[in-house]
Amino acid sequence: MTDRNKIESSVGMSIPTHGRASADILAELGTRAEGDTNWKGGRVFSLVYAIPGEQGAEHAQLLERAHAMFASTNLLNPMAFPSLKQMETELIASAGELFHCRGAVGTVTSGGTESILCAVAAYRDRARREKPWIRRPELVVPMTLHPAFDKAAHYFGVKLVKVPVGDDLRADVVAMRKAIGRRTIGIVASAPQYPHGVVDPIGDLGELAMEKNLPLHVDACVGGFILPWLEKLGRRIPRWDFRVPGVTSISADLHKFGYAAKGASVLIWRSLEAMKHQFFVVTDFPGGIYASPTLIGTRPGGPIAAAWAAQQSLGVEGYLALARQAVDAADRLRNGIKRIPGLKLTGESDSTIVAYETTDKTNIFAIADRLEARGWTVDRMHRPNALHLTVTANHAPIVDEYLADLAAAVAEVRRDPKLAKSGSAPMYGMAATMPVRFLVASRVRDVFAKLYSGVTS
Ligand SMILES: Cc1ncc(COP(=O)(O)O)c(C=O)c1O
Repeated sequence: MTDRNKIESSVGMSIPTHGRASADILAELGTRAEGDTNWKGGRVFSLVYAIPGEQGAEHAQLLERAHAMFASTNLLNPMAFPSLKQMETELIASAGELFHCRGAVGTVTSGGTESILCAVAAYRDRARREKPWIRRPELVVPMTLHPAFDKAAHYFGVKLVKVPVGDDLRADVVAMRKAIGRRTIGIVASAPQYPHGVVDPIGDLGELAMEKNLPLHVDACVGGFILPWLEKLGRRIPRWDFRVPGVTSISADLHKFGYAAKGASVLIWRSLEAMKHQFFVVTDFPGGIYASPTLIGTRPGGPIAAAWAAQQSLGVEGYLALARQAVDAADRLRNGIKRIPGLKLTGESDSTIVAYETTDKTNIFAIADRLEARGWTVDRMHRPNALHLTVTANHAPIVDEYLADLAAAVAEVRRDPKLAKSGSAPMYGMAATMPVRFLVASRVRDVFAKLYSGVTS
């Protein structure tokens, strides 16, 4: 590498004048990644879904190869890439079968948020056709619904009517019934919700949806590709899929418990009749007739091929084994947390999500800071203040280490309550109190503005 290239690449603000050697670039990418969280070692939860050990290394290699083979392809035009369309068809068919609706239809998307955006846009457009008198459409949803729905509502001019959940943290069906009004265009619930891993009462909500003649979307982004396996392993999972007659559509992420590469999710509809509102067509563009079923235009082939490869490689047996590893690890974590004095589980999770809080005034966010100091990436929550773990097969090897570090972190904070006034604890503590919530939003916007100002750290 020339000195000049060195300077340019370290500053990273302009394309280097002279192209660099591949080996050089790949070496630099490796160096750049060194400061990232050690996700392979299971020190991060919810951002990465990985498989441990040698099996994990082989699986990752397969995903990389499959992804690379289709890295330049584009499913925007299925006629040009029938191979990709066929993979999409198979991914949708297998998801339909897993969710108990042979003949289900749908699309592969780039992730949970895109599946959700597409669902909300389609529900809005369906209402525009069927109930044109509704000017300000509303979706009735539980408070615990993922913020991707807030984003979708914000983008598409839909209001979320957020209904408080019950003491068990599940959607409150009676309260949701009361929230349904003249402007309601649909109901949404989760299987499970992200914060505490509990499955909403989809059976009852399905009945409500049918009674009110409303569509019901189930957000199974985090649960869609693990709940079916947990059920097959004999776990009691509340009914949440197309076996519930009122369920219209389901979002489920392949890039979570499908152990696919990032950038793959599915939005599945019970019927083509329900799905048709998802299609978008423009006919007056001089560039030709433009039709697109999803939010994005160019649809990268890499993640679709990698997701297809993941399913082919793991098979039912592989997914069952991984689900068993994940749920065993989650059970061990739950039991270990319950044994640490001053901590208790938050909610009765139906999945491999574990949430916990303190039983006294000890600041859970100060404990989070002490865990982070020990090299863990920690997900902090509020209402109630708690910490979150989305447990995957990759966490099986780290359970004991996590529990030991957690016990040490709790002891440290109890010894020195001043820790609650340092680190991120005050900020998160502040975010948890109602009156200053808007101030927190403005602080977070400032942080984002700095991140995107072009100034490197
Ligand atoms: C329940 C639920 N819905 C939606 C999403 C959004 O998925 P993504 O981050 O892939 O857009 C998540 C992500 O964790 C989730 O847990």
